[in-house]
Amino acid sequence: MSFADRIAFITGASSGIGWEVAKELARQGCKVGLVARRQEALEKLADEIATHGGVAASAPADVSDRKQVQSAFRELADRLGPCDLLVANAGVGVPSFIEPFNIADVERMIRVNLFGVIYAVEAVLPAMLRRGSGHLAAVSSLAAYKGLPVESGYCASKAAVNTYMESLRIQLRYRGIHVTTICPGFVRTPMTEVNQFHMPWLMEADEAARRIVRALARRKKVYNFPWQTTLLMKVTRWLPDWVIAQAMAGYDKSLPRPGA
Ligand SMILES: NC(=O)c1ccc[n+]([C@@H]2O[C@H](COP(=O)([O-])OP(=O)(O)OC[C@H]3O[C@@H](n4cnc5c(N)ncnc54)[C@H](OP(=O)(O)O)[C@@H]3O)[C@@H](O)[C@H]2O)c1
Repeated sequence: MSFADRIAFITGASSGIGWEVAKELARQGCKVGLVARRQEALEKLADEIATHGGVAASAPADVSDRKQVQSAFRELADRLGPCDLLVANAGVGVPSFIEPFNIADVERMIRVNLFGVIYAVEAVLPAMLRRGSGHLAAVSSLAAYKGLPVESGYCASKAAVNTYMESLRIQLRYRGIHVTTICPGFVRTPMTEVNQFHMPWLMEADEAARRIVRALARRKKVYNFPWQTTLLMKVTRWLPDWVIAQAMAGYDKSLPRPGA
């Protein structure tokens, strides 16, 4: 599928993977609608895209707020036209501590990672259904495939995204709407730059974006990458708990505590 003159809305476009995906789609002739909370960063990206001859518009929103998502997407549709491709990418990663519970952080993460996807889908799907065409994509994570210690909230939020997108994919099968779930391994972005531990097969964000856009063009149902981390996560599913517990012993001590 060619992206020329298509219209894509990308959440979490102010940084990291979303920023690079927006640039890559624009490079391929797609008009891009940029959403995140930091308006200045979105405007910077829109200017950069325009400098290279592309078309971009931005509308700030907190994706965990349904009304903000609806009004930002309405503004983008008014400026660019109806959305052909949604890339619901906005997400956060905070550890889930249990002594004590950092429940407010975990609740907020699940609202952003899961409801951020659902609200974005809700905002674009009615028009796609009316036209009988469109493409919905969510950036999930390979962390969706295995519950890991101290990452319970993050893993649960991404597993929920995978299941949500899978359900939609089957439900929309005969409605002309494609659904793609994207599960990256480690990518170098502001989200991962705080990590103190070794991140195997760490990929640059522009390379990740090129692969994601290629998978979108091919309308893949699920895109897990890179294959090495995918294999590792799939093997991890079959390992006894004690192996993972020992391998990740001390992991929580390496993480910054809220308020620390
Ligand atoms: N980096 C990795 O290794 C990796 C691996 C697997 C999956 N992922 C997933 O990839 C996606 C992008 O992550 P990244 O690594 O590119 O992280 P990032 O550089 O920190 O970017 C996160 C993006 O999400 C936006 N965002 C966060 N909270 C938001 C909110 N409440 N409302 C609107 N936008 C919000 C941020 O924009 P504002 O702060 O301006 O709102 C930013 O644009 C996430 O879903 C993440 O879980 C990342």
